Amino acid sequence: MCGIVGVVGDRQAVDFIVQGLRRLEYRGYDSAGIAALDPGDAEISVCKTAGRIDNLASRLAKQHIVGATGIGHTRWATHGPATETNAHPHVGQGGEVVLVHNGVIENYAKLKETLIARGYEFATETDSEVIAHLLEECRRRRLADAKPGAVPTDQQLIDIVQDALAQLRGTYGLAILFKQRPELIVAARLGSPLVVGVADDVHYLASDASPLAGFTDKIVYLADHQIALLKADSLQVRHRDHGAIEHSVEVIEIDASDVDLGGYEHYMLKEIFEQPQSIENTMRGRLSLDDATAVFGGLNLSPQELRGVDRILLTACGTSWHAALVGEYIIEEMARIPVEVEYASELRYRNPPTPRRTLVFGITQSGETADTLAALREMKRKGHPTLAICNVVGSTIAQEADGGIYLHAGPEIGVASTKAYTSQLAVMAMLGLYFGRLTHLSFDQGYRIIESLQKLPAAVEKALESNDAARKIAEKYQAASNFLYLGRHFNFPTALEGALKLKEISYIHAEGYPAAELKHGPIALVDEQTPSVFIMPRGVVYDKVMSNLEEIKARRGPVIAIASEDDDQVAKIADDVIRIPMVDEFLQPIVSIIPLQLLAYHIAQLRGCDVDKPRNLAKSVTVE
Ligand code: G6P
Repeated sequence: MCGIVGVVGDRQAVDFIVQGLRRLEYRGYDSAGIAALDPGDAEISVCKTAGRIDNLASRLAKQHIVGATGIGHTRWATHGPATETNAHPHVGQGGEVVLVHNGVIENYAKLKETLIARGYEFATETDSEVIAHLLEECRRRRLADAKPGAVPTDQQLIDIVQDALAQLRGTYGLAILFKQRPELIVAARLGSPLVVGVADDVHYLASDASPLAGFTDKIVYLADHQIALLKADSLQVRHRDHGAIEHSVEVIEIDASDVDLGGYEHYMLKEIFEQPQSIENTMRGRLSLDDATAVFGGLNLSPQELRGVDRILLTACGTSWHAALVGEYIIEEMARIPVEVEYASELRYRNPPTPRRTLVFGITQSGETADTLAALREMKRKGHPTLAICNVVGSTIAQEADGGIYLHAGPEIGVASTKAYTSQLAVMAMLGLYFGRLTHLSFDQGYRIIESLQKLPAAVEKALESNDAARKIAEKYQAASNFLYLGRHFNFPTALEGALKLKEISYIHAEGYPAAELKHGPIALVDEQTPSVFIMPRGVVYDKVMSNLEEIKARRGPVIAIASEDDDQVAKIADDVIRIPMVDEFLQPIVSIIPLQLLAYHIAQLRGCDVDKPRNLAKSVTVE
């Protein structure tokens, strides 16, 4: 994980870097640092702190960092605790080179041993410091014959960096400063994302495009094995094996207001309330009433090829995995194609038999999750078409997949996923419709599904009216230590996702279960202090879930029901009821998750938790 920013231009680097790091804080937030330099500087200035970017900003108010070329980092610790010493940047012995790193160096212990034997002294417990000393070692070797004071050329810097990279095993996004060349940054990537922002007389570097909002809309996505040389007025990109390459500059829309709080107290709340709009954006242009089907521009497979698919494999992690579970229910029901859902972290090593005509979808908000990427690569290697369902445009998975579907949900900054999840579910519904229409759904059936989808944003808007009720229930149960979340059929994954939201941001233990499984274990947890949240909108399993609810009440467990607006039966039994509007059953997970997101939000907020940056978590998990 970790976030990287860099800038080279004619202004002080520090302001852009601090602002950029704040926008990347979702990638990790346990310590942060910055390095900058100007021509003629005797030393590269470095400032770092444990804790959030706010701590770094306070330190920078006292310790002025001067320089028009700078790099910064916000960390999510993998090797060594989140201390000031372990924070990036890391300086190579002798102070000639400094870097920030995102990724994991798997062979760092061996490299460290070798470097120590050569006289290098290590100050930190990180794997990243190895790269700093290794670069210094390669610098010394490459420049061994240089005249004293000679400044290394661009080519020499590239050779130095390539020498070092060739010895690394693992993943990296790197931003490197060389003291002798204060007018440039060298960037390199393998497995950890990096983008370059292009503007007049300034180039920016970042882990994703969000820090660039308001600065430039011209982006170059770096690919694996590429090295970039950023100067104020030029950008060179080279590939490890192919030398200099032409880079293409893409123009993307990043609205600065998308990455600001816009009056909300937290990004998570803002993103929960954005859902009517984000779902609308996900569906825009993708529903054809003329053909009564969904339309996807980027699948890169013909209808003939898609019709030939006899199995769909959905792979993902975390919340995206829950979206995959909903997808399984929807696609099997609408298209009668067998669907399997696999945790990406399991799929990558499990080596399951995969029938020849299996189509693989990776579902990922960030497009950077290491396990999802590895699972997709493995499936691609086996010869299966791989498609990405992804929010972040230009992300690694979006680039590597054979095709895919962008969510267009807008940047999601709160670590707990909300609007990306409902957009993923909207894509699942549209995929169900698409495959259904390829196989056996009639025009009429397809048409009715589209009509239901079109009403969805308004239903989500209505579901958001449950905010006050969710707040009151949160006040009542905020001190609970355990929660159960129970649902069936389409809403079984909703129970899992509701429980995950609560765990992630409030640190309350919560279990999601298919309601009927209650009797096979979790009912032993029920007591007067353990609330059970039943997701039970009207539908085919309503009566069954009601029986499960009765079983809890018979054991004096408090019950919160998420129920349809016209349900007058449930209020007689449940302690608290949150009403949601009626939608078709396959769309219920999109509407019923809304009050659960709000409930988790309010409980976390009442408990004084850091809603947007929960402890130990990061939004983009780029390590295994
Ligand atoms: C992390 C995030 C989760 C997310 C999961 C998968 O754990 O904290 O919110 O669901 O990664 O991320 P992806 O970007 O692949 O959807």
